[in-house]
Amino acid sequence: MRPFSQFSLVFPFLCFLSSASAEPQADINVLVSSGRHYSCKCYPGDRCWPSTSKWATLNATVSRKLKKVIPDGAVCYDSFKGISTFNATACAEVNQNYFGEQWTTDRDVTNLWIYWTNNTCLPPVAGNTSATCTLGYYPELVIRAMTKQDIKASIDFARENNVRLVIRNTGHDFMGRSTGFGSLAVNTHSFKDVEFIKKYTGPGGWKGGAVKVGAGIQGRELLRLAYQQNPRVAIVTGECPTVGFAGGYIQGGGHGPLATLHGLAADQALSFEVVTADGVFRTANAKENPDLFWALRGGGPSTFAAIVSVTVKTFPETPSAGAIFRINATHTNDTEIFWKGFRAFHNLANHYVDNGMFVYYELFSGSLNVQPFVGPNMDVAKLKQVLKPLIDQLDRDKVPYDIVYKDYPDFFSLYIDLFADEGAGANVLAGGRLVSKTDIAKNANGVVDAIRQSITASQGGIVGHIVGPGYGAPVVDNAVNPVWRDGASFSITLVILPLNASLAEKAEGQRLLTDEVDKPLRDASPHGAAYVNEGNLEEPNWQNAFWGTNYPRLSLLKKTWDPKGVFYARTTPGSEDWEVIDYGTRLCRRL
Ligand SMILES: Cc1cc2nc3c(=O)[nH]c(=O)nc-3n(C[C@H](O)[C@H](O)[C@H](O)COP(=O)(O)OP(=O)(O)OC[C@H]3O[C@@H](n4cnc5c(N)ncnc54)[C@H](O)[C@@H]3O)c2cc1C
Ligand SMILES: *[C@@H]1O[C@H](CO)[C@@H](O)[C@H](O)[C@H]1NC(C)=O
Ligand SMILES: *[C@@H]1O[C@H](CO)[C@@H](O)[C@H](O)[C@H]1NC(C)=O
Ligand SMILES: *[C@@H]1O[C@H](CO)[C@@H](O)[C@H](O)[C@H]1NC(C)=O
Ligand SMILES: *[C@@H]1O[C@H](CO)[C@@H](O)[C@H](O)[C@H]1NC(C)=O
Ligand SMILES: *[C@@H]1O[C@H](CO)[C@@H](O)[C@H](O)[C@H]1NC(C)=O
Ligand SMILES: *[C@@H]1O[C@H](CO)[C@@H](O)[C@H](O)[C@H]1NC(C)=O
Ligand SMILES: *[C@@H]1O[C@H](CO)[C@@H](O)[C@H](O)[C@H]1NC(C)=O
Repeated sequence: MRPFSQFSLVFPFLCFLSSASAEPQADINVLVSSGRHYSCKCYPGDRCWPSTSKWATLNATVSRKLKKVIPDGAVCYDSFKGISTFNATACAEVNQNYFGEQWTTDRDVTNLWIYWTNNTCLPPVAGNTSATCTLGYYPELVIRAMTKQDIKASIDFARENNVRLVIRNTGHDFMGRSTGFGSLAVNTHSFKDVEFIKKYTGPGGWKGGAVKVGAGIQGRELLRLAYQQNPRVAIVTGECPTVGFAGGYIQGGGHGPLATLHGLAADQALSFEVVTADGVFRTANAKENPDLFWALRGGGPSTFAAIVSVTVKTFPETPSAGAIFRINATHTNDTEIFWKGFRAFHNLANHYVDNGMFVYYELFSGSLNVQPFVGPNMDVAKLKQVLKPLIDQLDRDKVPYDIVYKDYPDFFSLYIDLFADEGAGANVLAGGRLVSKTDIAKNANGVVDAIRQSITASQGGIVGHIVGPGYGAPVVDNAVNPVWRDGASFSITLVILPLNASLAEKAEGQRLLTDEVDKPLRDASPHGAAYVNEGNLEEPNWQNAFWGTNYPRLSLLKKTWDPKGVFYARTTPGSEDWEVIDYGTRLCRRL
């Protein structure tokens, strides 16, 4: 398998084999690039790009919601594609909101991570790197879907006209999968229906509470509604308040503060309403389309179907305890003392998991910010007892620190108090590693050494999670990588690039991420894995790293449910047949 690089220097001259034929079929757009043969999606300027009248018909089908994409930053520029766009008031609004997650997630196409837009059309606040505002890798057109018929119309159009389809919910994807050059985007973020069910009676055997969640709902929004129920209920969501719930999150697996206790979000799924690649509305659960149901639970985003809604388990709310723990320059500037402190904290990963806990932390050179330790169904006395081995070790090692404990009447109050929105708008490449309990048991010190090497190489930090979805969850047969059942510590690695990074600098950033930032983590955790939602696009042997023994079945199911490749997301099942060539632009199937 050849890992494909978005920025590999593919010879840009494109020779159209079909240029001589009179009426090329939409699904045949064959070209040769760098001596390789491809069958590509249709792009503006290609003979097979749909005519104006076809687009007009689609526009009528979706109640006139089809829009040509104009990047949000265009209001800060004189013009976009020859249309004058400058508007000082609107530009001030963009400048004010550009780094805020909620604003960004509510837009039609704007991405949280500008790397995947080719850093195009940035508002002044984010750097003004391009003299002119261009579309970059943003979609060509977008439909803000309001009904499931709108989603079907988008899928049918993309399939019939061989146009690249992008599904966009919140634009959170670290790996650029909710944007794409020359594509038609369908935005599912307006699907905000939520319906709580006191006692589930559908197939699968679950008799507890459940909730049917629309495709556009975000984590905190869902938890807030759950809190308004009588009695209050808890749901496995992400730690990040603005991450979507029923889009990429659940299809990739979905960890979060309650995942040690109950399992991953995908483990909670009872039934999906979807539109498949053939444009048919389908239900997928234990009884109907069970193979699709299996694949949707962890098999990868935008791969098997477009989700309209998912029904998941709910759980009774419980009192919870939290703690904030810090070691930074306030406490010590001694590097070795600092790392003794981090070692004391991280070596206990299995211990936290064995107590049903989740921990979120940010680690930079000289600064460890654990916010928070989450003790579901605990009070402070119990949490202190669980953390005693940590405190004892810090004292033995003479490491200074601060720790603050807090009791909460329920998990939701803890969540609102201790978890916060993160930023948007960075030019960043993400990677990561899931370290298993086995790895911690065999090589806890080696894992800490690897984390230290990794942040030294990236000159940045990691976003860390102690999470063990195998602890309390009943074992569920789904597409989630089985290594998650032995999970203990999951780290996101980050390589931050300058806003004006050239293609060569981006390629070097990618190399650094794979070979120097992620490699020590891979080497230190031979029983670990990687996570498709928060991973490295150039993860070596990604099929195995993201899905382990489930990959062969997923690969077959992709061929069954989407033989034409209507859905595409990099490093998801079946995507090795495809390549984005010509400097990150054309999506083509390898011939
Ligand atoms: C700040 C931050 C915090 C995060 N925290 C967590 C966390 O706590 N736990 C965790 O597990 N992950 C977390 N993630 C990762 C998150 O799971 C992924 O970014 C995920 O892809 C987000 O899904 P989305 O639908 O919100 O985003 P989008 O970027 O809109 O979509 C992501 C992918 O899902 C596809 N997709 C979206 N909607 C649909 C749909 N209706 N049908 C089919 N495909 C669809 C898109 O095409 C794309 O491939 C975090 C990410 C960020 C940026
Ligand atoms: C779709 O129709 C609306 C309303 O007539 C129009 O404003 C919009 O520009 C059309 N979209 C495209 C892509 O032509
Ligand atoms: C950013 O670009 C716009 C449009 O070219 C220009 O008007 C503005 O002055 C620039 N801002 C900065 C800070 O360079
Ligand atoms: C400029 O932007 C503001 C704020 O979005 C809007 O109210 C106004 O109508 C815009 N002006 C023009 C001329 O489009
Ligand atoms: C992407 O950015 C590079 C470097 O700025 C530029 O050469 C290239 O034309 C851009 N591609 C697109 C599609 O915008
Ligand atoms: C360092 O820790 C102290 C004590 O917990 C905290 O108040 C401070 O904000 C931290 N500093 C940084 C830069 O994180
Ligand atoms: C660490 O260095 C910073 C900057 O010089 C200083 O402000 C801080 O007081 C030092 N911390 C300790 C514990 O000495
Ligand atoms: C990016 O900007 C920096 C600082 O302004 C400059 O030194 C560098 O040459 C620029 N790089 C590119 C590729 O333009």
